[in-house]
Amino acid sequence: MPTVAERLDAVPRLRLAHLPTPLEDMPRLSAYLGGPRLLVKRDDCTGLGLGGNKVRKLEYHLAVALADRADCVVCGGVVQSNTARQVAAACARLGLECHLGVLRGRVRDPEPGHDATGNILLDRLFGAVIHEIPWDGDRDRCLRELAVQLRVAGRRPYLVPYGASDALGALGYARMAVELLGQCEATGVAPTSIVHASGSGGTQAGILAMLAALARGVRCIGIDVDADARRVAADVSRIGRDVAQMLGAQQAWSDAVVEVMAGYAGTAYGSPAAGTLEAIGLAARLEGLVLDPVYSGKAMAGLIGLVRAGRFTRDDAVVWIHTGGAPALFAYPAAMTAVSTHPG
Ligand SMILES: Cc1ncc(COP(=O)(O)O)c(C=O)c1O
Repeated sequence: MPTVAERLDAVPRLRLAHLPTPLEDMPRLSAYLGGPRLLVKRDDCTGLGLGGNKVRKLEYHLAVALADRADCVVCGGVVQSNTARQVAAACARLGLECHLGVLRGRVRDPEPGHDATGNILLDRLFGAVIHEIPWDGDRDRCLRELAVQLRVAGRRPYLVPYGASDALGALGYARMAVELLGQCEATGVAPTSIVHASGSGGTQAGILAMLAALARGVRCIGIDVDADARRVAADVSRIGRDVAQMLGAQQAWSDAVVEVMAGYAGTAYGSPAAGTLEAIGLAARLEGLVLDPVYSGKAMAGLIGLVRAGRFTRDDAVVWIHTGGAPALFAYPAAMTAVSTHPG
């Protein structure tokens, strides 16, 4: 019977990310909050195309694209999608044409310049072909339709799902869990909880599936960034079960481990709340970390909220994963100015 590690190693994977990403202490934030030991896993430093959590997922997806002899890749997301940017960068690196469905209208009342800067500017710089699509809530269907159109036109597209979040992509975070546990062991850290932004669910699903497969009693708490925690939790459960199966650990999986915290996403996806701005300011001033108002700012607000709510003891060691996203902050100049004048 192959082990979990052997099953993971058997899945074809490209090398796109700068790995391992650093694991660093956040002593000043920890002291400010009077909380447990806080560490940050720097997955904003995965390198390719300014980095972020999708690069690990794309190592698996784009290996299949190359094996399938795809002549182009289809993906997409909102105007400020980090996934789209990382797919565009990876395609440039691999010499694959990249078609992005850019979904307009999901983010309410965008600031001026939202359509021209940050991630969308980088998508264009990486040479992606942009297809404008109105947001209608069914984010997967419109990407599938784009792939069909290309196929009808005689192309051989490979479709990366929304957020690169399916079991295959989530393997990138199963692998990250192994990397993180190894770093902790090597440095004498005994992690009790992992906290990070959860949206399309693949990141949390991969981590939880690997923790279950290795029978590690570390909690992994997702912070809902979509203002739709029940849907996020359902996606994490569905993908997590599939990942556990791929790892031969289906018996170890239980939906009961899925914890997605509501209350930190503000009123809607893409709209920063007051707590988001406080978190961005604290991370910047206390730790020199650059967070964004859509994902990592909300995830840090979640970490701060959990510490303040007494969720952890002083003896705990909590690893917060910085999943990236900083390019989007340039699309929120007014909100970021509010951070710089926030008392934090
Ligand atoms: C910066 C950033 N953090 C976190 C997430 C959420 O990860 P997942 O979609 O795997 O839940 C995303 C997804 O787009 C992201 O771009």
